[in-house]
Order: sequence, then structure tokens, then C-alpha cells
Amino acid sequence: MASTGTPNPPGRFPAGARAFPHRDLTGIAQLERHEILFLLAEAEQWVEFNRRADKHCDALSGQTIINAFFENSTRTLLSFEIAGKRLGADVVNMHAAQSSVKKGETLIDTAVTLNAMRADAIVIRHGSSGAVDLIASKVDCPVLNAGDGQHEHPTQALLDALALRHALEARGEGSEDFTGLTVTICGDILHSRVARSNILCLQALGASVRLCAPPALMPAGVEAMGAATFADFDAALDGADVAMMLRLQTERMSGQFIPSAREYHHLYGLTRARLDRCAPDALVMHPGPMNRGVEIDSDVADMLDRSIITRQVEMGVAVRMACLDVLTRRGRAVPGWNDGQWT
Ligand code: CP
Repeated sequence: MASTGTPNPPGRFPAGARAFPHRDLTGIAQLERHEILFLLAEAEQWVEFNRRADKHCDALSGQTIINAFFENSTRTLLSFEIAGKRLGADVVNMHAAQSSVKKGETLIDTAVTLNAMRADAIVIRHGSSGAVDLIASKVDCPVLNAGDGQHEHPTQALLDALALRHALEARGEGSEDFTGLTVTICGDILHSRVARSNILCLQALGASVRLCAPPALMPAGVEAMGAATFADFDAALDGADVAMMLRLQTERMSGQFIPSAREYHHLYGLTRARLDRCAPDALVMHPGPMNRGVEIDSDVADMLDRSIITRQVEMGVAVRMACLDVLTRRGRAVPGWNDGQWT
């Protein structure tokens, strides 16, 4: 099955707007609302495809995708690899720990080396904010951000939006966007690229976003992004439709940000009792990896009717297939796809 373009006819977009004019996907901040909706619509076609017995097509046959990961990952790396393979591409993974980065090679020299191998798309995860933009400026092919430092994790926000949309649809509450929905994001907001991308994505789709963290883990000036901030978790959850929990990113912390994991759980852990403060049937989300018993209790994480954590993982493959497909169209000269849209 190859993309047909039928989910996104040109007339669906604002006058004069192109469906997706970008070469790279470096962040949600670069995207207009209609571009987010375009990527979600493209991802929809891969959801059912991924549930089939035969999950292979030749849309990206002959293309080479390099996943260059300078930080650890389970979900993002594997889903980008699965996405590329299901689209028929040749997929190569570069783990920094086993690469010449360990011999002192710079980020720019690494990027130039990958570029010389004539990759058709490069997927980057890096611990430094802005590293993906830097690499994008040095290579000739599309670059996809798989998470850079505390900056952005755009495909995570897109898969979260798709998972949320599907969960609401399953309840008969589905619509294209999230107008009227209140989402509480709680945890280590300071170090979270997931929070930043989700604030941008959820708000672009009409949701109200509340942020909750201990004062030491709330970024200064984050209110300027349009979200309401809370230090009191109970108040932040009051009537919320979605509780999105984030882990403490201890690998990015220099010094003591919380007294102890036990005290953090007492004040900011999502328990059954706390979930009752949300709207009836409120949904529970977590990008993973989870620290059970710290930011979320197991009996909440595993609630079959409320937790959509595994659905988030499932949607990750569909979203990454859509992003790889769309961003490589220019290089593949896909018939009908001209200048960032179907014609
Ligand atoms: N959500 C997420 O980025 O998980 P990984 O670190 O396992 O990729």
C-alpha cells in the first residue's frame, strides 16, 4: 500500500497554504495547525495497515534511512526502525556508544559522514537542545528530530495527539481537534522536551493545557507559552480530561531537585484517589519510560478503561511512518506531490 494522498486533498487547507512545505521535522514550533492535522491524517492511513497480518509495502523502496541515536531509547528508536522497514526502506541504526563519537569525532563531522553515505533521511536523537537543527543545516536530506535535549520531541507530541484522538473516538467523543479538552501535564517540566512539544501541539489543536511540577522543576517564564501553571497537583487535576504524567529526568539533573522519590510520589504521584479529582472517565497518558511508584502507580498505569499508554506506543509507529513517507516524497519524486502538497 502506497500513499495515495486521498486523506489530504489540497482544498482542506487554508487558502494559499501548502500541506507540508518543510524539508525537515525539527519541532512542533515550526508547524502550522493545518500541517499538524495533515501529518495526523497521513498517520491515520497507517493505523489499520499496522494491524494487518501483512505489514509491508514498497513506498520507500530503495531509500536509505539512518537512525543516529546519541542517547538511549526503546520506543522512539524501535518505532522509527519498524516504520522505515514497513515502508520498504533500508534502515540503519547508529548507536553513539558504539560509534566513532567515542573516539572524539564531533557532531558536525558525524553529520557530514552520514551525509556522504547518501542517506535519504536521517533521524536524530541527541542530548543537546539544538543539535538536530545544527545537523539539519549540514546535510542534504530530510532530518527528523527524535528528541533533542530539553527542546522538542515532535513525533512524541504527534503520536500523543493521535492516541488521544483514537481514545476519544472509541468513546464516541471524537473530533478532528481537542477544542474544550483540558490536559494536565505533570512532572519534570523543566527537563522535558515531551512537555514542550505537547504544549505546542495540544494548544494548536484547541486544548487547554495545565502544567504541574515542584517549583524547582517548573521552567521560568513557561506561562508565556499559554499554559496555566500549578505547584499543587490536586488543584491541577481538578476536572481535567487527561492526566499526562512525566518521569523525573534524573540524567539531566545536576544537583538535588526533589527531597526524595518517596516525597515526590506523595505530592506528585498519580494514584487512584488523585485520578478521582479529574473529570469522570479522564484518560491517563505517559510517554514512557515509566517509573512506577514514583510519578504513577501501577494500578493507574494499567487501568484498561482509562490508561492509553500502550495505545500511545502503537500510534508511534503510524506517526513515524507518516513522517518518513511525507518528508521523503520530495526526493522520491512521488507523482502528484508537488511543492509540499498533492496537486
Ligand atoms: N517516549 C520516548 O521517547 O521513549 P524512549 O526514550 O524509549 O524512546
